[in-house]
Amino acid sequence: MKIKLKLFRYNPETDTTPHYQTYEVEADPKEKVLDLLHKVKWEQDGTLAFRRSCAHGICGSCAMTVNGENLLTCEALIGNLKKQRTITIEPIPSLPVIKDLVVDMESFYQKYTVIKPYLINNTPPPPTERLQSVQEQRIIDESTWCIMCGACSTSCPSNWSNPDFLGPAALLKAYRFIFDSRDDGADERLSILDHGDGIWRCRTIFNCVEACPKEIDITYHLSQLKKAIVTREI
Ligand code: FES
Repeated sequence: MKIKLKLFRYNPETDTTPHYQTYEVEADPKEKVLDLLHKVKWEQDGTLAFRRSCAHGICGSCAMTVNGENLLTCEALIGNLKKQRTITIEPIPSLPVIKDLVVDMESFYQKYTVIKPYLINNTPPPPTERLQSVQEQRIIDESTWCIMCGACSTSCPSNWSNPDFLGPAALLKAYRFIFDSRDDGADERLSILDHGDGIWRCRTIFNCVEACPKEIDITYHLSQLKKAIVTREI
């Protein structure tokens, strides 16, 4: 079938304002949105800029807004889109656009570093790896599925209204380490989250859960962080 791709275009070197450009491509319902972007770039307009790497839902680089929803373009099947004849693709919102569909993720990663996204353990390393039980691993398992695509944080109205909010992606990473049985940095991290731009800016709106391509129940994990801060029990 023939599909119209309405793409957000903006080149800061030549454009004063962003605009949309429409391309027509032949597509199969089993193709992914990313395949159509490739067709435009490789066959019609090499100036189009977008990010992708693995094309298998692993690296998180291809998150974009498709027909108003944040998703991974390498996973989104054309046949599964509600609107297929004209597909509108925009950069994920609330981050500065570098060019076309490419956004500047700098502030996103800065928030990530704030929560100390690494194991803190003050005991000497054992001769082999630090072990944990299956039950202990289950507590953090879902939070480790995050691929840092930014779909959650950029779909969060609390983030839109307050750019200083740490955002669901960074908070979920905080959960991943705070509830890790091998980590000793829980108190330090809970104190980092315990302020108006930290965990308390989350208003349980659930946009993050809807946007997450890995189907992580982010709001549940954030609620566990709130509980841990109030009770100081992990
Ligand atoms: S290209 Fe890697 S997740 Fe889509």
